Amino acid sequence: MTTRQKFIAGNWKMNGSLQANAALLTAITQGLREQPPACKVAVAVPMPYLAQVQALLAGSSVQLGAQDVSQHEAGAYTGETSAAMLADLGVRYGLVGHSERRQYHGETDAVVATKAQRLLAAGITPIVCVGETLAEREAGQTGTVVARQLAAVAEALGQQIEKIVLAYEPVWAIGTGRTATPEQAQQVHAALRAQLASAAPGGAMVPVLYGGSMNAANAADLLAQSDIDGGLIGGAALKAPDFLKIIGAAQA
Ligand code: 13P
Repeated sequence: MTTRQKFIAGNWKMNGSLQANAALLTAITQGLREQPPACKVAVAVPMPYLAQVQALLAGSSVQLGAQDVSQHEAGAYTGETSAAMLADLGVRYGLVGHSERRQYHGETDAVVATKAQRLLAAGITPIVCVGETLAEREAGQTGTVVARQLAAVAEALGQQIEKIVLAYEPVWAIGTGRTATPEQAQQVHAALRAQLASAAPGGAMVPVLYGGSMNAANAADLLAQSDIDGGLIGGAALKAPDFLKIIGAAQA
């Protein structure tokens, strides 16, 4: 049986500066040279820093990621960044449907699905984020909410769904220090994997990452779960020692 390689991705969100990025990535790439990772590693950085980070990551095993992409292909869309532009800058992964985009920028399931299509068409792997709010969890709706969010993307992509990376990020765990327990996360991951498996022949092999207050102390327990294939890391990805510890906890 083929195994799913673990994958640790950092999401810097709207943080960084030319100077801070250089210091952070120098420390991370040096750490990974000393202790080569057993997992795939990527960082999703703010748009203005893509070119800087592309240069800083040259020759390293860390892949470049973006945090968003336009749903449009090209043209009069002031302020937007197309998938082709991201590909031009060497971007390999693109987040779509992060809860902060859904919540603060009104992104619907349909928009998220279109963005995933744009990325795939440009040769970039979408990291599709799904997750329930606290109110939805308390109302017992976790399963239906994440299934609906994934179904919208699966419907748009068809069999291509097997080319995505999926991230389960419970909204109540993001930036709150309140992590889902390994059991809570595993339960949702198993359901998402079953949904992926029924959507495409290779669906069961889609990496399903956990995100939400994952840190150096709790990563190993989460990553030990059979359906947790990695992590999407916010705050802890901004500190090289913490990010390196999480990568170290991700054994194949
Ligand atoms: P935190 O790790 O800061 O909770 O953020 C998680 C996240 O939203 C990653 O996309």
